[in-house]
Amino acid sequence: MRRNIVHPGAGKLKYEIREIVSFATEIATRWNIPIQWENIGDPVKKGEPIAQWIKDIVREKVSEDLSYAYSETEGALAAREFIAARANKREKLNAGQEDTPPRISAADVLFFNGLGDAVAKVFGFLRREARVLGPSPAYSTLSSAEAAHSGYEHLTYRLDPERNWMPDMNDVELKVKYNDSIAGILLINPDNPTGAVYPVEVLREFVRIAKVYGLFLICDETYANIVYGGAKTAALSQVIGGVPGLALRSLSKEIPWPGARCGWVEVYNRKADHRFDAYIRSLVDSKRLEVCSTTLPQLCIAPVMGDSRYPAHLAERAEMFGRRACEASSAFEGIPGVKLIKPRGALYATVIFDREALNGGRSLERSLPVKDAALAEFIRGKITDLAPDKRFVYWLLASTGICVVPLSGFASELPGFRFTLLEYDDQKRREIFKTLGEASRAYLES
Ligand SMILES: Cc1ncc(COP(=O)(O)O)c(C=O)c1O
Repeated sequence: MRRNIVHPGAGKLKYEIREIVSFATEIATRWNIPIQWENIGDPVKKGEPIAQWIKDIVREKVSEDLSYAYSETEGALAAREFIAARANKREKLNAGQEDTPPRISAADVLFFNGLGDAVAKVFGFLRREARVLGPSPAYSTLSSAEAAHSGYEHLTYRLDPERNWMPDMNDVELKVKYNDSIAGILLINPDNPTGAVYPVEVLREFVRIAKVYGLFLICDETYANIVYGGAKTAALSQVIGGVPGLALRSLSKEIPWPGARCGWVEVYNRKADHRFDAYIRSLVDSKRLEVCSTTLPQLCIAPVMGDSRYPAHLAERAEMFGRRACEASSAFEGIPGVKLIKPRGALYATVIFDREALNGGRSLERSLPVKDAALAEFIRGKITDLAPDKRFVYWLLASTGICVVPLSGFASELPGFRFTLLEYDDQKRREIFKTLGEASRAYLES
């Protein structure tokens, strides 16, 4: 072609959570191995039933003609009013002026076709040279979108596994101070993949840094209602004071209804800075080109989330994942060279390998027992150029059929892997956790 048509960020679009699927599918079809999908965060696919009363509300909405219509570009007004009212009801955390939550209206709520769509626009419509500093490890949709928008590697701050995956705030502040291309900071709370939940003091520290250096904040709150094990946190809106910011929320994991492709952005302090205001306008304008997001799930929001059964629904699910987090953590106890920090929120657990124990100069020689010699040969032929943790993931697939995601696929230099807490069948789930623990031990001993 006479012109190069490839976007400078094209090579940065990596989503290991689904990329591993094609390799697992190849193994499944060629060697007839049933796969346990522990890579994707879809509670429904893993057997969780949808509450009957929620299905009844959706059924009723399906029977209304207006559910088949376009909605307003920003989203159905009834849904946006409900979301804004709910945000405005979040408690003030103390009497300090800084904590006064910004009041938002329906105009500050913008719907997308899932947060995946929101993330593409939030980063895609940022000025190219304006960077957003994000966590490492990171949920790859966010880190890839930021990297693709800039054309460079994603800029990250460290989540510290020695401190329950808390953000290294010193690292955050130094990076912000010495890199004036950083215009915003991203945090994920509760976090995917680590399961960390940030105490209010940590959130306040992000706000302080944003305020001192004139930044905006993006807080992914997909898992805001899946917090357990006694963890305490807050919504961004409760601590942000007057700093410009966005919270990203979704139906996917808490109803759960990931197939609805319905998420929204709550905008705080839009008028605090005219450039922030113009940026938000560009998000709305870009959505306008698509007309609107899918109507039906938006129309279900107020009746489902406003239902008197919803708080109990959230509490029961959080408790269920809390129990599963304990099970996962027990399965990895006492394994030398392997560490699982018990998640306090979200739907995943992350295991890290001690780098020395994993590599020890002979990472290529490690393996797991595989019945079929041809399959073992196939794996050996595939792993040479892979990151050490991805080699483990390939061997694990061939040996056990369990599909997890290497931590190197989450913008992380720490070797490890992420699996889900989602398997609904108790016996099967415990078996999976046990097998993962045993395979990790066997791999390091191999
Ligand atoms: C942290 C985080 N943000 C956003 C998303 C995307 O959610 P949605 O289904 O709304 O696109 C996910 C999905 O797993 C997630 O874990």
